[in-house]
Amino acid sequence: MWRWLATYALCACQATLAIPTIEIKGSKFFTSDGDQFYIKGKYSSRLNGYQLTRFQCNIDAPLIKDLGANVVRVYSVDPTLNHDACMKAFEDAGIYVIVDMSTPTYSIKRNDPQWSFELRDAFADVIDVDSTTAAPYAKAVVADMKAYRDLMQYRKIPIGYSAADLANLYELQQDYFACGNDSVAADFFAFNKYSWCSPSSFTESGYDAIYKAVDGYDIPVFLSETGCTTNDRKWEDQVAVLGREMNDRFSGNIIYEWSENENGYGIANYSNGVATGTPKLMADYTRLQSQWATLSPTGVKASAYNPSLTKRACPASTSGVWNVRADDALPTLGTSGWTAPTTPRQTGSGSAAAAAASVTAVAKESTPPGPSTESSGVSSGAIAGGVVGVGGSRVMAGV
Ligand SMILES: *[C@@H]1O[C@H](CO)[C@@H](O)[C@H](O)[C@H]1NC(C)=O
Ligand SMILES: *[C@@H]1O[C@H](CO)[C@@H](O)[C@H](O)[C@H]1NC(C)=O
Repeated sequence: MWRWLATYALCACQATLAIPTIEIKGSKFFTSDGDQFYIKGKYSSRLNGYQLTRFQCNIDAPLIKDLGANVVRVYSVDPTLNHDACMKAFEDAGIYVIVDMSTPTYSIKRNDPQWSFELRDAFADVIDVDSTTAAPYAKAVVADMKAYRDLMQYRKIPIGYSAADLANLYELQQDYFACGNDSVAADFFAFNKYSWCSPSSFTESGYDAIYKAVDGYDIPVFLSETGCTTNDRKWEDQVAVLGREMNDRFSGNIIYEWSENENGYGIANYSNGVATGTPKLMADYTRLQSQWATLSPTGVKASAYNPSLTKRACPASTSGVWNVRADDALPTLGTSGWTAPTTPRQTGSGSAAAAAASVTAVAKESTPPGPSTESSGVSSGAIAGGVVGVGGSRVMAGV
């Protein structure tokens, strides 16, 4: 039943697609118009609070557009709800959506990693809307979600991984998720980085090291959460990431985070604490807006970009550091139990993240977002053009 609804939603919204889709070529994102795409994103966590309702998205989308953002990363969506109206609001504002695949109920847990049919199907529902030993499970999620996307004949919605801010591991993770053939490799890699505390610089923040580590990297990379609140944020980090220092290797970043709460990283203050209604825009909002207004990298045209990039080798295991062997099989489940549609699905907006024109899907662990936790995980991010809408009659445990 829900699949029928999803299909219906797709077709209904097809005609209204307002923004180009995002595609990957080599190590860069491009719009379907052929322009390079850089992420100026902001994160909406609010845990269960951010519900992507029509009412709230109609308020927020214009504010996010005025901020200068072009991507919203959403921590979780409830795939049993219909998000079409909200996705339409984002799409109309030219904002793409990256959806984390995990939900409060379904996620890969670091201490007890598993990849089960129940989880797999729960994550697939999200697509329809739009500790190192856990790594193979996370990568299996990526592989199986790509298989689902292709089985359903969705457009090539980018599906990748977002890692926690684990300084000693990210290079290994980076290579691990990029290695292997197209069936198993992540479409992109992203990681959280909380090391730029104003005033700082490319070198002082350690951004020089992360830049160096992706020399010749063959898939897009971006920062999936950034922030520091020791001092007022001056957002010079944006100049580094989106400017000359890094924009030939990085595809932008997602600042943490939109709504103000106890941890003090927000830039919009909803007085009621649950992120509904009209927020008061904080000084950080205005400062970020000014900074982003000066940063519009154009990069290269897809037509002029023909890189020869070498795949990363899967990292060798190192006892106590990286406990995954390069030739360990992934615990993939494949597509058994899923049925391909009889007619190709159009990839328009209005459907799930997957179907959407938007950006990404990210699978990650169940830990909450933010700098104080190690919220690494498989991030099935779908960068799509503003869409996560699922028509669903299925409840979470109903697989
Ligand atoms: C891709 O790599 C995986 C893991 O090494 C392997 O099992 C699979 O057969 C490969 N697929 C193709 C199409 O080569
Ligand atoms: C957010 O708004 C509430 C209610 O208006 C106010 O009490 C609080 O101080 C504000 N927080 C910040 C950080 O501005």
